[in-house]
Amino acid sequence: MVNINFTYNKATSASAVQQFAPAVAAAQQDLKNGTGLGNDFLGWLTLPADIRPQLADIQLTAKMLREECEKIVCIGIGGSYLGAKAINEALSNAFAESQILYAGQNIGEDYLYELQEYLKDKKFGIISISKSGTTTEPALAFRLLKTQLEQQEGKDAAHRHIICITDAKKGALRTLATKEGLKTYVIEDNIGGRFSVLSPVGLLPIACAGFDINALIDGAERMMNLCATAEFEQNPAALYAAARNVLYQEEGKKIELLVNFNPKLHFIAEWWKQLYGESEGKDHKGIFPASVDFTTDLHSMGQYIQDGERHLFETVISVMKPNHEVIFPHDTENLDGLNFLAGKRVDEVNKMAELGTQIAHVDGGVPNLKIEMPELNEFYLGQLIYFFEIACGISGYLLKVNPFNQPGVEAYKKNMFALLDKPGYEAESKAIKARL
Ligand code: PA5
Repeated sequence: MVNINFTYNKATSASAVQQFAPAVAAAQQDLKNGTGLGNDFLGWLTLPADIRPQLADIQLTAKMLREECEKIVCIGIGGSYLGAKAINEALSNAFAESQILYAGQNIGEDYLYELQEYLKDKKFGIISISKSGTTTEPALAFRLLKTQLEQQEGKDAAHRHIICITDAKKGALRTLATKEGLKTYVIEDNIGGRFSVLSPVGLLPIACAGFDINALIDGAERMMNLCATAEFEQNPAALYAAARNVLYQEEGKKIELLVNFNPKLHFIAEWWKQLYGESEGKDHKGIFPASVDFTTDLHSMGQYIQDGERHLFETVISVMKPNHEVIFPHDTENLDGLNFLAGKRVDEVNKMAELGTQIAHVDGGVPNLKIEMPELNEFYLGQLIYFFEIACGISGYLLKVNPFNQPGVEAYKKNMFALLDKPGYEAESKAIKARL
C-alpha cells in the first residue's frame, strides 16, 4: 500500500455516503476556487508544494540548534504547538530523553518553575511560535525563558539561539524579533494556526527533533495530489468527510472518538481534536471530537463505549506494521497460562485486540470508521496530516460553518484580561468584577 487507506463499511452504507457526494463536490470546489466561508485562510491547501523552497533553510537552523544546544524549548500553544508535538511523539523512542521541550502551552506556575530549574546551567535554545504574536501563554513563557537564557549566556550568544516564528509584520513577537535582530520565519497570513503544521511552525521543531521533514512533505504532497484528483469513491478525505456527516447529521452520533492502538499516536489525537473542534464547533453545531488510547482506555472508557449512551462513533487509526519485532517467549512451566501466545508477535495480540474491539463496539451500536497507515514514519504521517486537514475543510462546509475562524476562543481571553486589569480593558474589568 502506498497511501493511507480509509474505510467506512463497519459504520454506514455506500448509498448513505454516496448521498453526500454532490455536497462534497461543492465543498471541494469552494476550497479549490476560494469561494467558500473563510476563503482568506486557504494557504494550507497548497502548502506541501509551496513550502519546498524553505526546507533547506529550516534544516540548517535545526542543525545549528541541535549541535549547539543541549535542549531546545518550543514555545507555543494550540496550532502553534500541537502539530510538532504530535509528529515528534509519534516518531520518537518512548524511552529516549528528548532534546525538545515544550512551554507556553499552559500557565502552570509549577510547570514553569520546574522547567526553569531544569534549564539552569544547561545550554538551551528557544523556538518562540505565535502567529498573532500576542497570545498570553507563550508570551509569558517566552519572557521568562528569554530572560533566563540572556542571564545564563549573555545577550549575544542567547540571541543566536532564539528563533521566532510569527506574522511577517504584525504583533509583539515580530516587533521584539525585529528590534533585537532575532532570526525569524514567517507564518503566512492565509494559514491559520491549526492548519500550520506543514509550515515552519511545525517543520522547525520536527527537524530539531531529528526527523525527516522532506519525507513528511513528500507524504503530504502525495495526499494533496490524490485528494485533488481522485473521484469521490477513491478519495479518502471526501469519503471520511461524507461518512462522519452521515453519522452526525442523519444518525445522531454527536461524538467522534479518535482511537489508536499505538500509544505513540496519543498526541496525533490531541492535534486532531484541536483541528476538528476549533474548525467545526460553532453556531451551536459540530461533532464533539474526543479520543482514546487502546487498549489502555478499554480498561477505563471501554464500559461506556460498549454500553453507555449511543451517541458515539469511532475512527480508528490502525498502524499496519510496527517498526520493531517482539516475539512472545515459550515458558516450560506456563504458570501464567500464556503459552498459547508463544511464538507470536506482540503486534498479533494487539491486532486481535483491535479486531475484537471493533466487532464488540459495532455489535454494541458504535459505528466504526477506519484509517489504515502502512507504517509509522514521516511519509505516512505527512499523508495523515494532509488527509485530516482537507477532510476538515470539506466537513466544515458540509456543516455550513466557517471552518477557518475561531471566534469562541476569544471569550475567555477577554475575561482574563479584564480580571488582570490589562490596559484597554477598563470597562470590561469593571463589568466583570461587579459580577464576582
Ligand atoms: O488554530 C488557531 O488559530 C489557534 O489554536 C492558535 O494556533 C492558538 O490560539 C495560538 O495562537 P498564536 O499562534 O497566535 O499564538
